[in-house]
This record gives sequence, C-alpha cells and structure tokens, in this order.
Amino acid sequence: TQPFKVAIALFGATGDLSRRKLLPSIFHLFQEGSLKDDFALIAVGRRDMEDADFREVARNSISDNDKLESLEGLETFLQHIHYVKVSVTDSASYAALKEKFDSVEKMYDTAGNRLFYLAMPPQFFTAITDSLRISGVTETKGYKKLIIEKPFGKDYESAHRLNEDISKSFREHEIFRIDHYLGKEMVQNIEVIRFSNSLFEPLWNNHYVSNVQITSSESLGVLDRGEYYERSGAVRDMFQNHMLQIVSLLGMEPPISLNSDDIREEKIKVLKSLRKVEKKDINKYFVRGQYDEGTAEGEDVPGYREEEDVNSASNTPTFIAARLFIDNFRWAGVPFYVRTGKRMRNKETKIVVEFKEVPKNLYYQNNADDVLAKNLLVIRIQPNESITLHLNVKDHAGEQDTKEIKLSYSVDNQDLSRTVDAYENLIYDCLDGDATNFTHYEELMNAWSFVDPINEVWEKDIAPFPNYRSGSDGPVKSNLLLSKDGFKWWNV
Ligand code: BG6
Repeated sequence: TQPFKVAIALFGATGDLSRRKLLPSIFHLFQEGSLKDDFALIAVGRRDMEDADFREVARNSISDNDKLESLEGLETFLQHIHYVKVSVTDSASYAALKEKFDSVEKMYDTAGNRLFYLAMPPQFFTAITDSLRISGVTETKGYKKLIIEKPFGKDYESAHRLNEDISKSFREHEIFRIDHYLGKEMVQNIEVIRFSNSLFEPLWNNHYVSNVQITSSESLGVLDRGEYYERSGAVRDMFQNHMLQIVSLLGMEPPISLNSDDIREEKIKVLKSLRKVEKKDINKYFVRGQYDEGTAEGEDVPGYREEEDVNSASNTPTFIAARLFIDNFRWAGVPFYVRTGKRMRNKETKIVVEFKEVPKNLYYQNNADDVLAKNLLVIRIQPNESITLHLNVKDHAGEQDTKEIKLSYSVDNQDLSRTVDAYENLIYDCLDGDATNFTHYEELMNAWSFVDPINEVWEKDIAPFPNYRSGSDGPVKSNLLLSKDGFKWWNV
C-alpha cells in the first residue's frame, strides 16, 4: 500500500502518553513505510522550544522504547517533526499553528490532509476543537480528522455536551475516539476466534456457557496521575470503556460483514441489552475497592490515600468487580463477571469462558465432589498473548479416570514485534479511514447510561476504604459476587 500523505498535529506532544506510546508508534509507522516522505508531525506544546529541542525529546523517548527492534531511520524521521508553541485556551495563538500547517504543507506533499491528535486532559477538548475551527486550521483542501483520548465526558450528560461541542468542528466520521484496548491484538482476535471457527459459535450461548470472566489487573498504582484518577476512579478509567468494549465483543451477534457499521450495530445491541441495575441493587451487582499499602513487585508501596494529589480520605474506587447480565436470547441467565483494579497481584488481562458440565459425569474423579475439571477457553490478552482450551482426557497413570489437559497456542515473539503498541494499530486505522476499532458515539452513550447509576450511588455513599492490600486479588467481596452463583474466579 502507498504511504499515507498527512500532517499530524500532536497536542500534548511533551506529555507522558506521547513520549511513552505515541511518538514510538508514529516512528514505527514511519519505519514500516506507512508514513514516508509526504508526512509531517507538528508537535504542539505550551513551552518555548525550537524544533531541535523537541526532536531531542522525541529522539530520547523513541530510543527508550524497548519494543522497537532498531532505530533505523530515526534521524530522517526526526527531520519531519516541527514544533509549534500554542496556548491551547487562547484562540489567538492558533494562528501559529495555521502558519505551521501552511509551511509544512509547502515542504511535503501531504495533500492538505490534517490529523489532530488530542493527547491532552479532557478539560481542553472543547477549547481546542473550537479554536481549530475559529482560527481556520480545520479549513483544508484535504481531509480533517480528530483523534481524541479518553475520558470522553464523566457521565452521560457531560459526554453529550462534549460531543455537541466537538461536532461544531468535526463530523462523526471525522472523530476517532480512542479506546486503546481495541488496538490490542488479542482483543481484535476475539472476533476472529468467534467468527472464523465453526467450533465455538454453536456453543457460544446460554445452553453451553455457564459464565464468562474478564479480568484486567494492574500491579501499578496511580503513579503521578492522582489528580486525574481522583475524579475518575476505576469505573470511568477502565470499566466504562475498556471492559465494556470487551464484553460487547464477546457478547455480540455475528455481524453481517466486517464493515465497521455492521460490527458497531451488533456491539451497540449488547450494550443496550445489559441489564440496568436499580440504584438500590448496585451493591448486589458491583463491588468496589481501594488499595491499602502492601507489596507490589517485591517492594513496599503506600496505600492509595497516601499517593500524590490524592485526598487522604478519598472515596475513589481503584477496583471494581461487576456481575453483568446481557438480557437477550443468547445470553439470558449467563453472568459476565468483570474485574479490574490497580495494585493487584500482577499485570494481566484475560478472558475465561467457562462451559457447562456434561449432563452426567460417568467418570470417577479423585476429588471431594467427584467432579470433572471444567472446560475453559482462556484468551490471554496481556502480558502474554495466548489461547488455551482446557479439556478432559483419560488419565493413564493416575488414580482417577480423567485428567485435565490444556491445548494452547501462544503468539510467538516474531508476531509480537510486528507493532510497538496498540496505539500504532489505531493510528494506522485512523489514517486508513477505518473506524471499526474506535468508540462510536452511540456505544459511548450506552456505556455511560449503564455506568452512571454506579457512580451516583458510590459517590454519595462513603465506602469502608481501604479494603484490599496492594499486591492482592482485590477485596474479598469480589469473590462473593461469584460464589453466590456457585462460581469462582479462575486463576488460570
Ligand atoms: C488506561 C488507564 O486507559 O489504561 C490507565 O487510564 C491504565 O489507568 C491503562 O493503567 C491500562 O492499559 P494497559 O494497556 O497497560 O492495560
């Protein structure tokens, strides 16, 4: 394929996300040839900097990235980067950005295509998109596109308002709302596993699946993002977006095609079918937690309330476990358990699909209940990428009739090094005009309307925090959520 012709304006270019993920991802697209001569990166920042200063920032962050196999082409790439100082809330200062676009468009044949990437705190989204319009930066002979980071609003109302604001400058097909989980290879694989194998689809329903579990645990704490996290918490930071996206991919009906509208239509139906929980029942379906001090990766770490920029009596959850029901024909009665938290035992994202037992066990098992091992399908998203199927076979030497075996496929290192990061996939898709792996407005609004009551109840009601130690599996109550239904979290 031809390299993309485009000028990318990166807002928040000196920020953490840009340095850790975006610059290395854009560089790798350049290395791979998706971006080439007809490309410019305009780094937008509020500091006084020369091109050379910013190129040094970019050089360092790219050299520090351990996923890149080589730095070949780095110096040429850096020559495509131009820095411009903009005070994002001062619309007059966008004249400099307009000039910068004009000048890079004379240097490279970018066809007037402009991509604006907002790696900025959300309070600036409206000001930036307004100013881009008012100052005429969005008037271009090529396309204009906007990539916008989460959080997109903090609830249904604010997301709706934000969207109205942004829509003054960009149309829905020009807006790419990032959910970086949708750029992860194994998240994208859910659909392929489901819809390219005749093996699973007949079983993928309430006749054969007893429950589905999604775990996304992190060993890190909030790091230096206390200010953001205090307002967000685990519900808005991970659950409303990444977790519900995974639920909808697992739960959706087969789309009529892989066209992005067809896929979204099915995902939206799942979000709409999620059982709405009344406020009085929130604590029956959801468990919240906040980490206390403890150990993470061998080190003593402080509790959440002791972190920088965090209220010492904070009521913000750093953990949520949920018991969801998709009330449609396929899934009626099958619980989807979801948990995500910071400062847990390890960094791991995985899906476990637990199948129902055979109608009658014919085999002797040397365990308390004489039960067969459960059939599980385990999809590991990170840190390792694998798919494992747990089955029973004859136990040749043992004392029981059957034993459990695991059929496993691991993505090998060669595959892994194809992309630097989920962000690389997503930036590529955006340049390519493929919106499948971005959050559509309707998905977003359905997700907010589902989570709003949880936040409303939990924000009013003071929790007995902290309630789990750093380095643990989260609050004990999250186990009860499953044990009440006769299940347990699979630590497989
Ligand atoms: C981000 C959250 O969206 O996802 C962070 O804001 C979280 O709090 C991160 O740490 C986790 O992403 P990943 O790719 O490391 O699982």
